[in-house]
Amino acid sequence: MDTIQVFDTTLRDGEQSPGASMEVEQKVNIARSLAGMGVDVIEAGFPISSPKQFEGTKLICEQVRTSTIAGLSRAIQKDIDIAAEALKKAANSRVHTFLATSPLHREYKLRKSKEEIIEIVSWAVKYAKNLCSEVEFSAEDALRTEKDYLAEVVDAAIKAGASIVNIPDTVGYATPQEIEEYFTYLREHVDKIDTIILSAHCHDDLGLATANTLTAIKAGARQVEVTVNGIGERAGNAALEEIVTGIGIRNDFWKVRTNVDPSKIYTTSRLLSATIGYPIPRNKAIIGENAFAHEAGIHQDGVLKHRGTYEILTPDYVGRKSNNIVLGRHSGLNGLRSRLKHLSIHVEEETLQELYKKFLEIADKKREVYDSDLIAIVSNFEEEEDNTFFKIEHFSMYLEPNTQPRAEVTLRIGEKNKKASASGDGPIDAIFSAICSLVDYTVVLEEYHVTAISPGTNALGEAVAVTTIEGKECIGRASSTDILEASAHAFVYALNHFQFYLLHSNNEHKES
Ligand code: KIV
Ligand code: ZN
Repeated sequence: MDTIQVFDTTLRDGEQSPGASMEVEQKVNIARSLAGMGVDVIEAGFPISSPKQFEGTKLICEQVRTSTIAGLSRAIQKDIDIAAEALKKAANSRVHTFLATSPLHREYKLRKSKEEIIEIVSWAVKYAKNLCSEVEFSAEDALRTEKDYLAEVVDAAIKAGASIVNIPDTVGYATPQEIEEYFTYLREHVDKIDTIILSAHCHDDLGLATANTLTAIKAGARQVEVTVNGIGERAGNAALEEIVTGIGIRNDFWKVRTNVDPSKIYTTSRLLSATIGYPIPRNKAIIGENAFAHEAGIHQDGVLKHRGTYEILTPDYVGRKSNNIVLGRHSGLNGLRSRLKHLSIHVEEETLQELYKKFLEIADKKREVYDSDLIAIVSNFEEEEDNTFFKIEHFSMYLEPNTQPRAEVTLRIGEKNKKASASGDGPIDAIFSAICSLVDYTVVLEEYHVTAISPGTNALGEAVAVTTIEGKECIGRASSTDILEASAHAFVYALNHFQFYLLHSNNEHKES
């Protein structure tokens, strides 16, 4: 049975989803989780695109040693140099360079002829090959490229030394039948195609990313590019959990395997969701709350008589445990350490001591700490550590009958404490107005939601505040047993993200 290489691009294409940007430490955390699952290749970032992307890729190379680490680059010398530099310390590295090939992109975006594109592809792959032992080439918008021309491009990339050639459906336009035709055509018309790995990268604009990726495997792809929870540009990419589980459960049909341990899927999926504040829809395949819930009486009856009647996979298969109470206020540091280990969440020993204090604070308030709480504590903890220019030092809310709610906030801004109070139509309006009155920026709250992370009225509530600050989208998230406190912190984290953005855009400006 052939093994399909799983190339995860959660930290690159996935991070391009609006509002999904992560701090460097958060990216390392997700990368560790991906490596722990057995993902073959982790695309850690697009190093030329920002100092943070460069740092994130570099740190992942230093700290995650069991997967190959890839860095994206356009087919431009400076991009390739920076990608190779960021990847220097990886145990196994891959420069992933790309250039668009479709008529629309050639004519309007690149203004280059077919011949010029081929020349650039050959040059870029050769150049990257001198800096990195493994080079992947992607023909952007391949599925809207003339088949015979695409075959010429792939041929040029192989001759120049690419070991992996990726055929992306960049705009999620293709049908499964077209995918099959393209992959089959390339396998029949490109010399030496059997010496490289053909890869599929499908976007979900028409809801076909998973079907198209699986069809590509049937037609000869031996690498699939996926993201956890299917995040990615616009409607996202093919979801890792769907591809891995699809192959695993139906290997009688697909006749291939992967190196990914499906029992690690659930934790990684929840960790990502908590980190970026993207809730998982209840009805999402594999990872949604309802994926294993049988509601109809006929179904429940069937499952009780024989699970196989309506259940094609068990929750255990993807590592879903019932909401077991795992830790409480009497749990020690060792208990926390071993529970995190069980969840494949790696935390440095020095950080663990700090995390333990935070854990005790939460355990004191809500007594029973579930795995989902733990995942939220870890993901928010890193956010707190990284962003502290603005910090809520004190916060009170006054709710009296027949009067507007009033919030009092003391905010540390840099070195100074500033205090404000404001009333509002509701408590959230009051809190956000008080905070806004202390900063000089124009802040617009675009979206706001609170989700209970675990069962019970004393659950941790996670607040997500999507804001536009001076025209820049900035997202903040935070959790607490007090949802007003979580909301205030989430709002302040959005401000911190803006501060971080200002700092880095100024530095970039100075460097260029
Ligand atoms: O969708 C796409 O074409 C991409 C490439 C950069 C691989 O993400
Ligand atoms: Zn993509």
